[in-house]
Amino acid sequence: MRKNIIITGFMGTGKSVTAKELAQRLEMEFIDMDRVIEERQGASIADIFDRYGEKYFREQENILVRELSLQENLVIATGGGTFLNLDNIKTMNQEGKVICLYATPQALYSRLEKKNNRPLIKGDNLLNKINHLLERRKKIYESFDYKINTSNLSVQEVVDKIVTLLKLER
Ligand code: S3P
Repeated sequence: MRKNIIITGFMGTGKSVTAKELAQRLEMEFIDMDRVIEERQGASIADIFDRYGEKYFREQENILVRELSLQENLVIATGGGTFLNLDNIKTMNQEGKVICLYATPQALYSRLEKKNNRPLIKGDNLLNKINHLLERRKKIYESFDYKINTSNLSVQEVVDKIVTLLKLER
């Protein structure tokens, strides 16, 4: 059994696709935190924000982080804001290796403009919203030891880099 690998980063950096592919490559279990929360609540992330507010969603994230930290052999894709909570940072750093994906605001924009399911950046002026939120969160994303710029990389290339970075073998 391996320790968990946690893939984090801003919305649109490719956390879920990367974590899924990495899990397959390493024969580990893939967990997408947002999807687990949606299943448990029986509602989409957008609906959870609408009905109960961001604070409630963050509480659900925190509960899930604690639960997952008791397990092994997982490749976890966090939500983009999971690490805004210091308790989550502490727990996940203890639990396994954290990789932070990042990308240029332009790359994020072109990936995110096609989708309309993120409550924190919905509506007009998407690029402004991305820049604003990135600025506020920059320090946290930059604080991780392992970081990968996904702007010009395919999912396979990102996974290759993670495998090399963590010196992972089957
Ligand atoms: C959020 C990112 C989203 C989701 C929620 C809040 C954030 O996840 O958890 O909308 O605060 O950055 P993705 O990064 O998977 O889109």
